[in-house]
This record gives sequence, structure tokens and C-alpha cells, in this order.
Amino acid sequence: MTPPANPLAEDRRDFNRLAQRVAGIAEQHLRTLPDGVVDRVMPETLRREVLDTPLPAQGMGADQIIDFLRDKILPWPLPTGHARSYGWINSPPAPIGILAETLATTMNTTSDGYDHGGIFLLGCLSRWLRELFEFPLDDSMTLLLSGGSACNLNALTVARHKAATQAGYDIRRDGLQAIDRRMLVYSSQEAHSSIQKCVETLGLGAGSIRAIPTDDQFRARADMLADMIEQDLRAGHLPCAVVALAGSTNTGAIDPLDEFANICEQRDIWLHVDGAYGAPGILDPRYHGQLRPLARADTVTFNPHKWLMTPVDCGALLVKNKSIHREAFSLVPAYLEAGGTDDAPWPYHYSFQLTYADRSLKTWATLARLGRDGLTELVVRFDKLADLLGERLEQSDCFELLAPVSLSVVCFRYRPRDYSGTEDGLDELQSALSAQLTRDGEAHMPTSEVNGKRCLRACFMHYENTEQDIDHLLTLLETYGNAMSS
Ligand SMILES: Cc1ncc(COP(=O)(O)O)c(C=O)c1O
Repeated sequence: MTPPANPLAEDRRDFNRLAQRVAGIAEQHLRTLPDGVVDRVMPETLRREVLDTPLPAQGMGADQIIDFLRDKILPWPLPTGHARSYGWINSPPAPIGILAETLATTMNTTSDGYDHGGIFLLGCLSRWLRELFEFPLDDSMTLLLSGGSACNLNALTVARHKAATQAGYDIRRDGLQAIDRRMLVYSSQEAHSSIQKCVETLGLGAGSIRAIPTDDQFRARADMLADMIEQDLRAGHLPCAVVALAGSTNTGAIDPLDEFANICEQRDIWLHVDGAYGAPGILDPRYHGQLRPLARADTVTFNPHKWLMTPVDCGALLVKNKSIHREAFSLVPAYLEAGGTDDAPWPYHYSFQLTYADRSLKTWATLARLGRDGLTELVVRFDKLADLLGERLEQSDCFELLAPVSLSVVCFRYRPRDYSGTEDGLDELQSALSAQLTRDGEAHMPTSEVNGKRCLRACFMHYENTEQDIDHLLTLLETYGNAMSS
């Protein structure tokens, strides 16, 4: 029997022509992006039109759909693809990553398991990433999840499992109900908000986070950590994990990883490193020594969609001990198979999710295209640009650095010469400056806060960032700042 006429079958036959159209539109978008307005905000009328579009009774034509997306959606991306977007820590997508993602969705394979091509590519990528971060290869693995939040949650779930098991509880069977000791997570007071969300999601409550005070460079203090743990142990509490930062979101600070690892090893406490942004800094000889102890952590979060140009989304979790991970997550009902090998493990045994996107193609392709040398060049260049901006700001008499430059982040503020106004006035000036830059489409640089002072925060993340961007940025900020404060 012939199947009824179906629009999807029609598109399959017409795939080449449709794909050429989409490729042409994507190419034009990428080509014209650098000269366009940095942060384009969707007009109100168009938002309404899109929000109110009804589901058509009869399907729209494929060309009509492509036109709709081209005209009404594509012109309004987030600014992160643009080289003068310095605000958020997301890199632009590598063109080869975009193309590889198309192949991945064409294959439509998932990352749960089974012996499809993506699983073996993931096995290869997993090794590449562990090698790049100098992480041990024996019994370890890499998971590709949606991002830093998901990786942190996965890691802390396993940390909780291990702490509970060691203390004699069966957390998979009895949950938290049976645990009569307070489980605690230690993390820098500069930790990303996802850590608190994870601890809340794990049922421990935000009050179970011990915030480690930081030094004048925003690094969590190891001496304080040791004291806090000792006190909690004496009180009968159950330390569950220590989270160290390898590149804080706000200032790029790197916690003293070796000292943290000593403290955790001595007391057999899980060490998780949140290097969602900063872990690739290990490729820069200047930061190699500080980041080399990543290898001592039980788990390391790192986002290829941050520093390594992989199209969103992709978070990578380096896992030291596969067996504990499997013990914490694996559940194999009759309708699934258990499987995988040492070098190509099936991810569903090691995480909460079953069916999810295969992120290995786009990530592998991006890394393969750049190679170790290309990746190193990017990391070193971004760090150098941040240093250069820091130096130029310090030489100027109308800017103030608010935190030491670390990795590719610079936190600073504009301060008019001979300023005699209030701190609140300065705070407002930073916000006004940032908003004006965005409105005029010149750059995207949202504000943040350092030691209670509002600041501008520049983070270099674009593969085409050069020293010219710094000249442009400084001229822009000074011109706007002078105009707005006179
Ligand atoms: C240090 C750090 N950890 C975790 C996250 C969360 O990552 P994601 O947004 O991919 O969930 C971020 C995001 O900026 C981050 O900077």
C-alpha cells in the first residue's frame, strides 16, 4: 500500500534544494554579522506577531517556513556571536560546528547509548578532552551534558551518593529521609549561582552551603576551608563535597586547587572543580601551574560552548571514577540494554537522562578543526587581550580596575576625572554607559558588581577578537563616558 501524501516525505525528496536555501541564509547571516549592530532587540510588534501565530490547520509550505524563520527570527539572536559582545561567557559558534550539528540531527541519534557512530566519536572526544586537561585516563570518562549547571548537578549527585554510602546510608533506596546528619557542600562565596541551585535540587537546602571567604584576588581561602570542615566534623555533620572554582564567572579567579585537593584527600571528601569557563586556561603557559591540579579533582565541569567555540549547548563533565558514577545512576529495566565498553561507555548509566542530543559531532568537529595548537592560540590570545585592556585602563586617568585581571576577564569602571559625586552616582553611570552602548549597537557589555561596586565587565571570547577591539572599546567608553558625565 502506498502511504498517503505527506509533507515530510515531500521535504525529504526536496531536501537538497531546501538545504541549499538554508545554507545560503546561514552564510549571509555569518558574513554580515561583524558589520551589524551588536545586540539587536526584537521590535514589540514583531514579538506580538510571533507570540500570537496560530498553529496552522494545514501545514505551511517548507519554503514559507524558511522565509518565516529568515525574516522574523534569525535577525534577532543573542549578541554572543558578535566579536564586540564582551558580556556573557559564550563563544560564537565555530562554522564547522554548525555544520556538524546538522549532520548530528540528520542522524538523529541520542547520547544514551547503543553502538551507533556517535558513541564511538564521543569515546574519542572524551579522550581528547581528558588529554587536553591532563586528566588521568584510567577508569575515567567524559559526559557531554547541556551545560555547566547540568554538569555540576551530575557531579554533586554522585558526591552526595558517595558521602552517604561511606557514612552507612543507602541513599538510592531511602533517599534523604534516613539521613540524620546534615550534609554540607563547601564552595567559594564567588561560586556560580548554579551551585546553589544544584544543592537546592538535591534536597540539601541552600543553608547547607558553606560559603568560603575569598582573599583580595577573589580566590577562596584554603585555610578557612580546612577550619570550616573541622568544625563541622566536630559538630557531627557530613561534608559531602568541596567545589573549587577554576575561573569564576565574575572575575576569572582561580581557587588554590592544590591546597583544596590536599584538604579533600586528607579527609576523603569529594573535590569538584567548576571550570565551566576557565578550565581551558590550562593551555596558557601562564596559567598552567594554577590549573594543572585539575587532575586531582574527582569531577571537573568545563563548557565547550564557553571557551571552545562549540555551538550551544555543550557542557563536559570529566569524571575520575566511572564506577562510582555508575553506582549512583545506573538503572536498567527489561526494555533497555546494558552496554558499552571501557573506552566507549554508554552515557545513560552515568547520568539522570536517557534520551538526549548527541553533542559529540559538533564538539569533536570544532576541536578537530582547531587542533591543539589552534585551541592554545585562542586561549593565549584572549588572556593577552584581557591583560592589555587591564594595562591600558590602569594607564588612563578615567578608568579604575576593580579586580585583578584573571584569564580573559576584566572588571572595571569609568570614573570621570576629578569626580566628586557619590558612589551611587558612579554605579548609575556604569549602568547608563552599558545601556547606551547596547542601544547604539556599538558593543555589548552588561554590568556586574565587585565588592559592592557596579562595574563594566569585559570577557574576550570571540575567535576574531584582536587588539583593534581594545582600541575601539576604549575610545568608545571614553567618548560615551565624557559625554554622559559632563
Ligand atoms: C563558573 C560557571 N559555572 C557554571 C555555569 C553555568 O553554566 P551553564 O550556563 O552552561 O549552565 C557558568 C555560566 O556562566 C559559569 O560561569
